[in-house]
Amino acid sequence: MKAVINTTDGPIIASADEPVPAPHEALVAVRAFALNRGELALLDSRTGGWRPGQDIAGVVVEQAADGTGPVAGTRVAALVEQAGWAERVAVPADRLAVLPDQVSMAQGAALPLAGLTALRALRLGGALLGRRVLITGASGGVGRFLVELATLGGATVTAVAGRHTRDLAALGASEVVAATDQATGPYDLIVESVGGASLAEALRAAAPGATVVLIGSSSGAKSPIDIYDFVGHEGTRIVSFLSYAHPDPPGADLEVLVTFTAADRLHPTPGLVEDWSKLPAALAALRERRISGKAVLTL
Ligand SMILES: NC(=O)c1ccc[n+]([C@@H]2O[C@H](COP(=O)([O-])OP(=O)(O)OC[C@H]3O[C@@H](n4cnc5c(N)ncnc54)[C@H](OP(=O)(O)O)[C@@H]3O)[C@@H](O)[C@H]2O)c1
Repeated sequence: MKAVINTTDGPIIASADEPVPAPHEALVAVRAFALNRGELALLDSRTGGWRPGQDIAGVVVEQAADGTGPVAGTRVAALVEQAGWAERVAVPADRLAVLPDQVSMAQGAALPLAGLTALRALRLGGALLGRRVLITGASGGVGRFLVELATLGGATVTAVAGRHTRDLAALGASEVVAATDQATGPYDLIVESVGGASLAEALRAAAPGATVVLIGSSSGAKSPIDIYDFVGHEGTRIVSFLSYAHPDPPGADLEVLVTFTAADRLHPTPGLVEDWSKLPAALAALRERRISGKAVLTL
């Protein structure tokens, strides 16, 4: 089969061994996959034949041998650990969700890592009904899901988006500001993904006792915060979220996201959809911040 293989000259599509599913794994023919910002750094560092790819959507070719999970012919989306940018991939049954007909392959591929990160990060802040929420990096793959899911939960959302403000109001943001220091607050929950000065500025907009969920550092900058930044925001807590450390397998929460999508309540509208032969250009567009939302490649 063909698969994306990373080399010292960057990722290429080349021949690879067929996956050999373990008894609890289904074999899935991949129809679409999505890129994640975190994969840019991994592609830079893992150059010796590494097989990237976490977000996939496709069709089950063989059900898991232990009888768990969907049967052959079922459309699914899944979060795998790696090697998903390929014609076929082995997927543990508890890492996938069935896609109903009204959810496209591109939408399904856009959901897993970004959608799960948004859903699970928001849950760390507790109940959303009537709360004020600040989302930084709101135009990104995770950010757009954060805006829409927080709104679904009953929060009033301020979105921070510099370059792209594509339909953030339609996703539910009641306010869109161009930089974190323009967000006045006070906010009960802040989901911060830009890092550096943005994290320090977000703290200044926190209500006393607020939760700041730290999910990323897209700017790559270190944050200059100390105890005096909490004066006036006493009791505010910073909580880290790292998806790989979540105790539950992805399948059940991915089904939540798929169900919202099928019901037209969540809109994983990719900012880019191309054939997978265009992978280098799509990676460049992601790196250069030319995409708002997920980049999806189809097979
Ligand atoms: N903790 C976890 O488990 C987890 C899981 C997934 C992702 N993440 C992290 O969460 C962050 C967002 O991921 P994503 O997939 O949504 O990325 P993305 O689609 O590339 O979105 C990044 C967002 O950050 C904004 N941004 C502001 N300053 C930036 C800068 N200096 N460089 C790059 N972006 C900047 C971008 O806004 P513009 O519109 O202005 O470009 C964009 O809205 C990343 O840091 C990623 O590594 C963490």
